[in-house]
Order: sequence, then C-alpha cells, then structure tokens
Amino acid sequence: MAATIITFGTFDVFHVGHLRILERARALGDRLVVGISSDELNFSKKGRKPVYDIHDRMNIVSALRCVDDVFIEESLDKKTDYIREHHADILVMGDDWAGKFDFCQSYCNVVYLERTPSVSTTEIIEVIRHGSEQTRS
Ligand code: CTP
Repeated sequence: MAATIITFGTFDVFHVGHLRILERARALGDRLVVGISSDELNFSKKGRKPVYDIHDRMNIVSALRCVDDVFIEESLDKKTDYIREHHADILVMGDDWAGKFDFCQSYCNVVYLERTPSVSTTEIIEVIRHGSEQTRS
C-alpha cells in the first residue's frame, strides 16, 4: 500500500537544509505532504515575522519535485488532526524536535531525521543583517 509522509516547518528563506529533509522524507514513502507554519504560528514559535509570507513559502515548497501537497499549519497543537486529515502513515521531524512528537505514535510512525549541519534560517538572516565576519567568528 502507498505510504503518505507528513512533515512540518516554516521553510522561511528556503535553504539546502530544508531541501534535504524534504527529499529524505519523500524517500521514506510514496507521497509527501508538508504543513507550512502560518505567519502567526511562526511568530509565536520564533518571535519574529517570517521574511517570506505564507503564500510565497507555500509556492516555493509546493514547486519542489519531492513535494506532492502543502497546507497551512495554524497550530502546533493540531498535529494529530493534520495526520488524520491527510491519512499520513509516517510523521517526519528534524531531530531538533527529537522525542517531542512521540505522542503521535498512536496515529502513525514518527521518524526524526538528522538536521543538515551549519545552516539555518536564523543564521542566514543574521549573516545578511550583520555580515558574515561578525556571525561566523
Ligand atoms: N532542517 C534541517 N536542517 C537544517 C535546518 C532545518 O533538517 N539545517 C529541518 C528542520 O529540522 C525542520 C525543517 O527543516 O524539520 C523546517 O525547519 P525550519 O524551522 O523551517 O528551518 P530552520 O532553518 O531550522 O529555521 P530557524 O533557524 O528559523 O529555526
């Protein structure tokens, strides 16, 4: 039977760490659905507005070959609702969330994938704002 994978994230200022986790998630099954944090959810998680708004972030992620569908993630507390709505078999999260979504195991398998080292949206924003000399010392 075809397996559906679901994953979540903000995917702001899209970078290679984002691409790699989406490609590895897709390789675990036949279909990849991505919940993209709303602008408001990103603000509540990270304390800043995303650089690219929800429409641009959804356009970018949905254009990837490894992504089959995207939707807006409005709340962190609705993970199990999203899993059920999208009939997901496997939830993939980066290992920065290791253990935090084990409660979803009664609905689907939960897999934590290693983050790609040395790249993050936060660091890219800092480098652009202050220059690489100050942030990479
Ligand atoms: N991710 C990854 N490797 C990275 C950065 C992110 O695998 N170097 C994964 C995260 O674990 C998550 C997804 O990409 O599953 C979306 O992460 P997101 O929070 O949108 O990106 P970050 O770069 O971590 O953003 P920030 O720096 O704002 O926290």
